[in-house]
Amino acid sequence: MKDLIIKNMKESCPWQDSLLWFETIDSTNTRAKELASRGAPHGTVLIADHQTGGRGRRGRSFHSPAGTGIYLSVILRPHCAATELMHLTCAAAVAMCDAVETACGIRPGIKWTNDLVCGSRKLAGILTELGLAPGGGVDYAIIGIGLNCCQRESDFPEEIRGIAGSLHSVLGTEIDRSGVAAAMTDALWRMDQTLLTGRDALIAQYRKDCITLGRPVSIVTADGSVRHGIARDIDEAGALIVRLDNGSLETVNSGEVSIRGMYGYV
Ligand code: BTN
Repeated sequence: MKDLIIKNMKESCPWQDSLLWFETIDSTNTRAKELASRGAPHGTVLIADHQTGGRGRRGRSFHSPAGTGIYLSVILRPHCAATELMHLTCAAAVAMCDAVETACGIRPGIKWTNDLVCGSRKLAGILTELGLAPGGGVDYAIIGIGLNCCQRESDFPEEIRGIAGSLHSVLGTEIDRSGVAAAMTDALWRMDQTLLTGRDALIAQYRKDCITLGRPVSIVTADGSVRHGIARDIDEAGALIVRLDNGSLETVNSGEVSIRGMYGYV
């Protein structure tokens, strides 16, 4: 599989030389963090066929069976403060839309902040994690993506069966995971070229891809309280601006709340 991924990658992408393939791993993000704290270079890419402890946001697990999905993490070492990377998850989401479009000819939407969707089904999730240097700058950033490729409806655990989808379920064809993994790596490399200098263009593309904008949403805070409104905009840091039902505008950061559509997952 590793050889096939490298063969499918663009020659211009230098990350082919630092690609690590795992048949089974606990979590590519956890391993990437270990490698990064031991000095692994910028552009180290970890791809696994199977995760035994795949992690999602808010401490959730990410179902990662063998032979069906792509579980990928990349280590970045941008020279900047953490405040300059507020848009990292948005940039990664746009890059993953580019990758799916390149490999499969369809462009998914983005459910704010970090889910790739087709119709009302979640195709992929993104988990970004930062390691800070003693002086407060960024030591490393990890972008982790889990993309459902070949799953049939019955392959998903019951609790996510009505929500999760795969490239196969959308396209109805067999999916070449090595081609998709190569496109994902290429797209992350391209994203990295303009990550710090092209923030406004990245956010502009994110706004175009984001299906949450214009929709009624519920803002669910950690203490369980729920407020309702309409998603109006994305700011330059990737936060969601919501017009609440009482007329006021609220800026919502992804770490603080989850957003639900008023009538289901999207
Ligand atoms: C989410 O939907 O909450 C985010 C899911 C992120 C899953 C990916 S799979 C590759 C990487 N390794 C992990 O343990 N998590 C991310």
